[in-house]
Amino acid sequence: MPVIVVVGGQWGDEGKGRVVDLLAQKAQVVARYSAGNNAGHTVVNELGEFKLHLVPAGIFYPDKVCVIGNGLVIDPPVLLAEIEELQSRGVSVQGRLFLSDRAQVLMPWHPIIERMDEELRGKAAIETTGRGVGPAFVDKVGRAGVRVADLMDKESLLELLSFLVPYKNATLEKLYGAEPLSTERVHAEYADYGSRLAPFVTDTAALVQEAMGRGDTVLLEGAQGSLLDLDAGTYEYVTSSVPSSLAGGAGIGIGIGPTKIDSVLGVYKAYSTRVGAGPMPTELTDETGTLLREGGPRPEYGATTGRPRRCGWFDAVAARYTARLNGVTAIALTRLDVLDPLPTIKVCTEYQLEGERTDSLPASRGMLARATPIYEELAGWQQDTSATRRFKDLPENARAYVRRIEELLDAPVHLVSVGPERDQAISIKPIL
Ligand code: IMP
Repeated sequence: MPVIVVVGGQWGDEGKGRVVDLLAQKAQVVARYSAGNNAGHTVVNELGEFKLHLVPAGIFYPDKVCVIGNGLVIDPPVLLAEIEELQSRGVSVQGRLFLSDRAQVLMPWHPIIERMDEELRGKAAIETTGRGVGPAFVDKVGRAGVRVADLMDKESLLELLSFLVPYKNATLEKLYGAEPLSTERVHAEYADYGSRLAPFVTDTAALVQEAMGRGDTVLLEGAQGSLLDLDAGTYEYVTSSVPSSLAGGAGIGIGIGPTKIDSVLGVYKAYSTRVGAGPMPTELTDETGTLLREGGPRPEYGATTGRPRRCGWFDAVAARYTARLNGVTAIALTRLDVLDPLPTIKVCTEYQLEGERTDSLPASRGMLARATPIYEELAGWQQDTSATRRFKDLPENARAYVRRIEELLDAPVHLVSVGPERDQAISIKPIL
C-alpha cells in the first residue's frame, strides 16, 4: 500500500489540510513531518470548523492513527490545548495520536528571541508568525535544543536546563536586554508538560515503519509551502524548518528511507497567496487582489495569525520550479471556485528580467523583486462551480484553465476543490 507525501507548492496555505482530510478516508496513518505551530490548517467537517496547528488533519476519522514526527518543533501548551479542544468537541485522540520522542520542544525563550530579533531587523523583518518556531530550529541545529524525550525524565531535564537556561539568559540579557528566566520555574513547568504529554509519546519512526510493514497506507503531511523552504524558497523570507518542508524532508522528518515513498501530491491553489514579507511577483494590490482575498467562502486570512494574505495570479514559473524540486507526481488544485466571478484570468508563464524573458525563478532576492510577470490571459467562466462534482460538468473555460496548469507544471491534476466542505471536490483520477 502506498506512502504518499502531500506537499504545498506555493507559499503555504494551499489547502493541504483540506486535501489530507479528504485523502485520509482511504489511509490508515497520517503523519506530520516538519515545522511547528507556525503552520495552520483549517478543516471544515460535520463537527464544524477546526484550526489545527500541530495535530495532523487525519484526526477527524476515529480509526486513523495520527503521528507528530521527529521533524517537528512542538510547543507543549499549544499541543495540549489543541488536544483538549478536540476532545471537548467530540474527537477522540487517546490511543491514536502519537508524538515523537525525538521531536524538538519550543521553549519559553524562543518567542522572546524571535520578537527581539524581528525588532532588531527593523525594515528587514521577516514578518514571521511570532511563535518562536524559527529560533527553536536554530537551537536544534545549534545543538542547544530540548527534545520531547527530555521532558519525560525529570532529573535529566533538570541537568539539561541547568546548562541551557543560564546559556539562553546570557543571550536574553546581554544581547537583548531582556529579563532572565528561572531554571526552577522552567523545569517545573516543562516537567509537568512532560507528564501530561507522556501518554502520547513514543518512537513514532518505529510505529510508522510497522504500519508500512502491515501494508497500511501512509500520508505524510507537509507544512507551509515549498517557496518558504530554507533551500528552495525566497530566502531570507522563508521559514526555518529542518528538515525541509519539501517532499525530500518527509522521510527524514518521519524516520523512513527515501525508497519507501511512492508518490508526491503537490497541492497548489488556483491563484497565489503569501503571508509575511518577501518577493511575490504576481501580487495584485488592485480590486482583483481584494476579490481573491475576500471573494471565496473562506476569505484569505492566515490560519495562525489572522493576517490578511497577499493575493495574486497563479505564478506558473514558481509553481513549475517547486513541482520539479518536489518530484510532484500528481496535483491537487484548490479553490478553483474563487475564480468563478472573473471575466478573464491571468497566469504568469515567464518573467521579464533585465530586458530578457526567463522561465526560471532567480535565486537572487534583488532579481526576484525586480522580475515583472509576463502573463497569458485565459477566458473566465463566470459561473458558480461550487456544486460541481464531475470534471466534465465544469464550464469549458474552467476545464481549459485546469488543463493549462497541467501543461505548465508538467504533472497531471488529479483533484480539484471547489469549496471548503469535504464533498466540494472533483476527483479527476484517483490519488489513492
Ligand atoms: P516563521 O515560520 O514563523 O518563522 O515565519 C517565516 C515566514 O513563513 C513568514 O513569512 C510567515 O508568514 C511564513 N509562514 C510560516 N508558516 C506559514 C504557514 O503555515 N502558512 C503561510 N505562511 C507561513
